Amino acid sequence: MISYDEALRRSGPRFKALLEKIPKKGFERLPPDWLHWQILERLTILKYADIVEGSNVLEVGSGPHAIATIALAELVGERGRVVAVERGRWGDSWEVLKHSGLSPRVIPLQEDASKLPFPFSCFDLAVCVHGIRSFDGRQSIVGAVKEMLRVSKERVFLAESSPFAKNKAQEAHLAMYNLRRPTFLALGRADWGDLRYLPPQELRNIAIEAGASRVELREVDVGMPHHLACFPSDLILKVEDSEIRENLMERWRKALAMLERYGEEHPPVIVLDAWK
Ligand SMILES: C[S@@+](CC[C@H](N)C(=O)[O-])C[C@H]1O[C@@H](n2cnc3c(N)ncnc32)[C@H](O)[C@@H]1O
Repeated sequence: MISYDEALRRSGPRFKALLEKIPKKGFERLPPDWLHWQILERLTILKYADIVEGSNVLEVGSGPHAIATIALAELVGERGRVVAVERGRWGDSWEVLKHSGLSPRVIPLQEDASKLPFPFSCFDLAVCVHGIRSFDGRQSIVGAVKEMLRVSKERVFLAESSPFAKNKAQEAHLAMYNLRRPTFLALGRADWGDLRYLPPQELRNIAIEAGASRVELREVDVGMPHHLACFPSDLILKVEDSEIRENLMERWRKALAMLERYGEEHPPVIVLDAWK
């Protein structure tokens, strides 16, 4: 894994100055620089999207901390715009954007991505970065990608973590992450998302099913930490079915031991371009 200083250096002086404006804040198991690491990871991934300064970009599933939104707003430059679509989980997005100084470049829009309110193709690019995992299921992902293709002039860019680990620290991340969905389902909270990461071939099939004429896909090793998979065991302890609860708790303890032993590394990221 690379060091934080190295990641900052690679991001370039403009991005470094931007990150310095955003206060560092830890939370439970999250270290103070977790958000900065996440934004750095989005910037690394979005470099593969070939975003031209001055572009008008649609972002789908912008999420509660505007993580990819910040990287996008930086990449589109002063004359560019990012329309950030989110179905409702805004969290502290606006506060983070204000700290970054990039909020004038961002237009938030509360909508379901499978019913976008734009009558024609008005975006240079439509992107969804680490958002696919939060959709309701395969059909809603296909529906959103279909809409993204419809409203973009020629291309859609998707990025999502791979379900295949290349080392123990990535395995630790996946072991913990893969407990989230079954726990949420056992609690009757399918709406909390965190679907299993999809294999590359499945992402390709989704893009084709959504109507893409051509798909290009690659895997990117980001070599950065990922602090977000861990969740408190209190949630598992609320599961009523004792057999499911015990099974989840046992897996949770093993996953935690792995995180503590190996650290937690971001799995490879699958980046996909889909053309109309
Ligand atoms: C993992 S989160 C944040 C991803 C964010 N782009 C990032 O870089 O961290 C994905 C978001 O997608 C949103 N989402 C899920 N389904 C959606 C839909 N049909 N329309 C719009 N947003 C959706 C969820 O509310 C969630 O906040």
